[in-house]
Amino acid sequence: MSTIRLGVIGCGGITRAHLPSLRGSSDLISPELRVFAEQTELRAACDVDEGRAESVRAEYGGAYATSDPERVFSDPDVDAVLITTWHDTHAPFSLRAMECGKHVLIEKPMAMTLQECDDILAAEARSGVKYMVAFRCRFARGANDVHREIPNPDNTVAFARVNCVWPEGIWAQDPVKGGGQILSQGCHVVDMMFYLAGSEPEALWATGGVFHHDRKPEPIDTLNVAIRYRNGSVGAFIGGDGGQARLLPPGTYAACPFWVLVTDKGRSGLAIDHGQNARFETCVPPGKWVPPYEERNYSAEIGDGRASGMADILPTFARSIIRDETPPATAYDGARTTRFLLRAFESARTGKLITWDY
Ligand SMILES: NC(=O)c1ccc[n+]([C@@H]2O[C@H](COP(=O)([O-])OP(=O)(O)OC[C@H]3O[C@@H](n4cnc5c(N)ncnc54)[C@H](O)[C@@H]3O)[C@@H](O)[C@H]2O)c1
Repeated sequence: MSTIRLGVIGCGGITRAHLPSLRGSSDLISPELRVFAEQTELRAACDVDEGRAESVRAEYGGAYATSDPERVFSDPDVDAVLITTWHDTHAPFSLRAMECGKHVLIEKPMAMTLQECDDILAAEARSGVKYMVAFRCRFARGANDVHREIPNPDNTVAFARVNCVWPEGIWAQDPVKGGGQILSQGCHVVDMMFYLAGSEPEALWATGGVFHHDRKPEPIDTLNVAIRYRNGSVGAFIGGDGGQARLLPPGTYAACPFWVLVTDKGRSGLAIDHGQNARFETCVPPGKWVPPYEERNYSAEIGDGRASGMADILPTFARSIIRDETPPATAYDGARTTRFLLRAFESARTGKLITWDY
């Protein structure tokens, strides 16, 4: 395949973080991935709001804009799709795209139900296309340092303070369209947690509840989970939105200071700021107090754009197609994250320990 012709479905905010990498145009792409980015171009832009689709088409040079996703799926000149719509469309659009033989790059969370996870995994296996979930923390500099330097931790603690990047009334908070803040945003941290844990989860017990919202049925907004991994290591996930979306004045929002801490017998590593930066526990010289950690502040050293790795997501997807390689975050990873959170919600509701094998 000489050039990967991309159809984009959903032309909102995050689309404009991915598309600058088309044709290798972004300065933020890692040098080794630039050659793959150069082999991508926009073919079609689609959004229910056709004005948004047209604005993306005009900016990135696609052949057409449309409000009809089916036009993109059935277009023989589209090789791959980027799905960046609301969460309740992720599974149906994924299934249709794979049915039409398109490679898929999809924003998180991949799916909202256990059945959707099963269906996407089956379709991925059946279709043979490349299916990649855009879990951004896997591309971030600090998280990759921790992954490389502490590959087999005995304890993994994750913190997802999913407070109001998205305000209260937005679709992501809607139980049906988005699934609530923990599924919508906490999934970033859950994926980073599994990426760094180096083992598959085997059992969990959770406690939590709906502390801050009152729509029915409202997803759980406060959640603490204890985890046991297959390799015998343990961990914890702590997540919640604190109800802050209601408290802040319109037009303001708080940050989401996502982090994952891993420990091995003699060392610990902390991936912070969506994994952009890291801290490692170090040895303190006897008799002299110094901060007992080594700090790697990539955001300050090379800027947030490079530290986040966002510009590398589309080129990595292209590389997996061109080289016929497995992408770094597959449907399996997408399913693991959704399954984990839905099972944690179930445990919090029932009080039961949940074990699984997959
Ligand atoms: N990786 C990240 O850091 C990050 C950040 C923000 C959002 N996201 C994810 O990106 C996705 C989109 O989020 P966003 O913030 O860009 O939202 P957004 O609302 O800005 O954009 C979504 C777009 O999808 C369109 N859309 C919705 N349903 C559609 C349909 N059926 N057919 C065609 N178009 C449709 C909407 O009109 C809208 O323009 C979500 O999955 C979200 O979780 C990821």
